[in-house]
Amino acid sequence: MQQDVERILFSESELVDAVELLAGNLTEAYRGSDLTVVSVLKGSCVFAADLIRRLPIPMELGFAVAESYGDGTTSSELSVHHFPAREELDGRDVLLVDDILDSGRTLSALRTRVLARGAVSVRTCVLLDKPSRRSAEIEADFRCFEIDDLFVVGYGLDFAGRYRNLPYVAELRAEVLAGSLASGSGEAG
Ligand code: IMP
Ligand code: MG
Repeated sequence: MQQDVERILFSESELVDAVELLAGNLTEAYRGSDLTVVSVLKGSCVFAADLIRRLPIPMELGFAVAESYGDGTTSSELSVHHFPAREELDGRDVLLVDDILDSGRTLSALRTRVLARGAVSVRTCVLLDKPSRRSAEIEADFRCFEIDDLFVVGYGLDFAGRYRNLPYVAELRAEVLAGSLASGSGEAG
């Protein structure tokens, strides 16, 4: 796996520091709230697991499973396979946590659903933000890093289902990306 990596963008220790800083901001923002964190799978599993353990405030946890079909590095059609029930969201302050805000279609669609299930508020929190690729009307309320228009993997982010378990965020070698582009992934989150 490591031999497929071109360069590391954010090391393990940079991720730890960024999550710590973000958790501090979230703690201030949600102190006294009825917070429900909704982790968008699969991509946010590592980030969300690290983040919630640094929130010293009461919260509940939910999951959404969203799958974007594409050619491997760009997303197109979105389908939502799992979503919290109304009882989990009604009257709650919901924080949608995802790995990356890219076109914005995933979080924009999920935000609409969260509000439709009675949430009092909904905000978005992402590890990475690629503002240059935005097509939907949405911004991250909380984020760790802004990046250029690069395809990255690791710390939960995949390419064709792989590399989620890399402990850092990295760019893959061009040959690796080119090698499987034709096969597509249909990988959730
Ligand atoms: P959206 O385009 O903002 O809806 O993002 C949809 C999903 O595309 C994200 O949750 C990720 O799963 C995936 N994605 C977008 N950019 C990248 C990337 O650079 N690496 C890995 N996955 C990505
Ligand atoms: Mg993905």
